[in-house]
Amino acid sequence: MTDQTSATTLEAIKYTPGHLQILDQLALPHETIFETVKTVQDGHAAIKTMKTRGAPAIAIVAALSLAVDASTRQAQGEFGDSASAALTFLESSLEYLKTSRPTAVNLFDAAAKLSAINQQAASVDSATAASVVQLYVQAAEQMLVDDVQDNKNIGKHGADFIVNHVGNNKNISVLTHCNTGSLATAGWGTALGIIRDLHARGDLKHAYCTETRPYNQGSRLTAYELVYENIPATLVCDSMASALLKQNPSVQAIIVGADRVAANGDTANKIGTYQLAITAKHHGILFIVAAPSTSIDLNTKTGQDIVIEERPADELTHVAGIVMKDGKPVPTTVRTAAQQIGVWNPSFDVTPSELISAIVTEKGVAIKSPGQQFDMKSFLHL
Ligand code: MRU
Repeated sequence: MTDQTSATTLEAIKYTPGHLQILDQLALPHETIFETVKTVQDGHAAIKTMKTRGAPAIAIVAALSLAVDASTRQAQGEFGDSASAALTFLESSLEYLKTSRPTAVNLFDAAAKLSAINQQAASVDSATAASVVQLYVQAAEQMLVDDVQDNKNIGKHGADFIVNHVGNNKNISVLTHCNTGSLATAGWGTALGIIRDLHARGDLKHAYCTETRPYNQGSRLTAYELVYENIPATLVCDSMASALLKQNPSVQAIIVGADRVAANGDTANKIGTYQLAITAKHHGILFIVAAPSTSIDLNTKTGQDIVIEERPADELTHVAGIVMKDGKPVPTTVRTAAQQIGVWNPSFDVTPSELISAIVTEKGVAIKSPGQQFDMKSFLHL
């Protein structure tokens, strides 16, 4: 089960039946520390503290933490023969896991699908605790497998779209934001998956990644993945994006991920995405959102309805790093902001659909006619 990706690709989620480990992304890029997740409380804490982050990875770790927890309880006889006892535990755990982070819809989508499977499993006459838990575990495991394949399809569709749009000139540079790679998914990645695909085809000249303040997913995680994959890459800080586009005409696309895509295509993603879309429009280049179809929320009509998570002030007032203690790296934070300053720290912003050129999913590429909005409902029912 753990070999979801090629040997050269980073892995943030290691799973075998009954055993789940997550890569502690707070320790990257300095240290590679895997933590064991045994319970839904462990899964919830890993997501809330951002040891696991990225919309698809959040959903998968939540689902698998419950798979491991429920399997252990089942093996210990906690549910007896009672299908309804197993159902009650699974359903209350999903509700609890949903409280970890609010913006990425993938978690809510996964919880709704898993809940439907639980209800169905418990409703058959022959249902036992064992059968209910087993069907839950199978469904959660399938999410891990499906996500890698979805990402590979996103990579292919996105690379095709860009090459067709700008011409196959082997000279395509791109800018990306936040982290959307193997660390944010079950493997391969969404926006970063497209960059991997362009690179593998020989069409990528250079990848630029933003630092992504305040949490530095770009400089800590995306830069780490790009170096790991030997993709030619350069780090810029968020405020350099417009200058980069002005000076470097080979940058022909900005590619980002998504935490929630509304029915009209408005997209919530890491804070700073909106300003990148504005600068892409000003410079006349593609602005591409890459996400699995599980990031599309047809129940949310427009971006105005998306709940934006606000994170603690210290993520903005401090920078994280390491100090060496007795020859070992120890994570630490250093305050950079003036004492007593007020802080606003929204973790995401919403990019209006009119600034988005295309939304790339595993099912294909959603585009719109000039002056029109996306119709994600029609797109999903192609
Ligand atoms: O706060 P994070 O690190 O969970 O935010 C992650 C992002 O915004 C990603 O761009 C998004 O989840 C897509 S990950 C494939």
